[in-house]
Amino acid sequence: MKTAPQKKLFIKTWGCQMNVYDSGRMADVVAPLGYTATEDVAEADLVIFNTCHIREKATEKLFSELGRLRPHQKAKAQNGGRMMVAVAGCVAQAEGPEIQRRAPYVDMVFGPQTYHQLPEMIARVSRGAGIILNTEFPAEPKFDLLPQDHATPGVSAFLSIQEGCDKFCTFCVVPYTRGAEYSRSVASISTEAERLVEQGAREITLLGQNVNAFHGEGPDGKVWGLGRLFRRLAEIPGLKRLRYMTSHPRDMDDDLIAAHRDVPQLMPFMHLPVQSGSDAVLEAMNRKHTADDYRRIIEKLRAVRPDIALSSDFIVGFPGETDKDFADTMKLVRDVGFAQAYSFSYSRRPGTPAAAMTNQVDEKVTAARLQELQQLIREQQERFNQSMIGQTLPVLFDRVGRYENQIHGRTLYMQAVHVEGHARLIGQEMLVKIEDVGMNSLSGPLLVAA
Ligand code: SAH
Ligand code: SF4
Ligand code: F3S
Repeated sequence: MKTAPQKKLFIKTWGCQMNVYDSGRMADVVAPLGYTATEDVAEADLVIFNTCHIREKATEKLFSELGRLRPHQKAKAQNGGRMMVAVAGCVAQAEGPEIQRRAPYVDMVFGPQTYHQLPEMIARVSRGAGIILNTEFPAEPKFDLLPQDHATPGVSAFLSIQEGCDKFCTFCVVPYTRGAEYSRSVASISTEAERLVEQGAREITLLGQNVNAFHGEGPDGKVWGLGRLFRRLAEIPGLKRLRYMTSHPRDMDDDLIAAHRDVPQLMPFMHLPVQSGSDAVLEAMNRKHTADDYRRIIEKLRAVRPDIALSSDFIVGFPGETDKDFADTMKLVRDVGFAQAYSFSYSRRPGTPAAAMTNQVDEKVTAARLQELQQLIREQQERFNQSMIGQTLPVLFDRVGRYENQIHGRTLYMQAVHVEGHARLIGQEMLVKIEDVGMNSLSGPLLVAA
């Protein structure tokens, strides 16, 4: 068999886990053309920027990154080589023509739905076809056209099962950049999961912009929900841990909640964004649930899995948010108690309904609220981590640590753990007696399996 000449690929990824998954898949798509990864952008034959459009300055960040790349591209051309440059992801989808106009040295601009066509796009660029803009939402789903194997899945792997969003929260660009909701079939997800486990994965995180809206075709021809999919994936031998993100409170159905009771592989850690604790703000955000609906879901989850740890996303300073609304958010955080959470200042995104609202909140007010919320979240996170001291926790080791003879793993609740141990333990789940809690990780001695 003829082997393709060796070429170097540099990918930089911004944004959510789905972008991380997509970047890995792009590397898999171009691997048969001879591309292998490099960390050194100067030597790259193909550079891919996989972009995110969720918050402010995404486009400007991209242009400054492209500006920094340009001298490397020129240097390569002067030496008789060629550096192809591709902009992928959600900024590409949203701002394709603008990128074409402002950075004509970019060879390819394509969205999240078309990267499986990379080999054809590369061939067209090589033939001198000029800049390629490929931001359609094609009829054929890319998932079934991607290579079967991931190049290097690792112990903890991502698997996208659902894409796009039909919720149209008034602040969010995702429905525009990722398109309408689409769920893969159970058969194609199971096959990919089985292959990942054969390749060494022990934990799989199912991904989707709205993952619990999953409604894929089952092997029986009926529509399956996420709870049922978990029961199926739990049958794969060697797959120790299952996780999923990101979920929407509206789609937390009883079967999925029951799966937290019935499926031991499903980890007791749940990322469930609520965005605000105020019903007025939730309504203006078009979240389609109230703060009490959220509390009730948490109660149900805790009833079936008392040790479940919670994470969330919050936006402060959404248009019209009053001091009282913000106080309701603080109250919700106190009522629920989070193991961790992400919080953001509201960012006005072009084209979204909230951007046109006239009651925008003053930046200083937003900044002060964000600080207060983050302080509370930090305290809760510290308390949660401290509560691990003295406990013996199962830890899945997924990579070597920074120091010699150190390995890194995660608890059931996603906390990072560092222990002294040999690299051959990677891929194994073992017990660790937690003795220390640092800023970002737990540590303690490894116990010999009982
Ligand atoms: N699909 C997920 C997450 C989407 S984006 C969900 O429904 O929750 C991830 C997070 O970014 C969101 O949960 C939200 O908290 C934040 N985010 C999205 N748009 C934003 C905006 N315009 N300004 C500030 N934060 C935003
Ligand atoms: Fe965005 Fe809302 Fe969809 Fe999440 S549910 S991706 S926040 S529109
Ligand atoms: Fe960003 Fe697109 Fe993900 S906007 S958060 S990369 S879906």
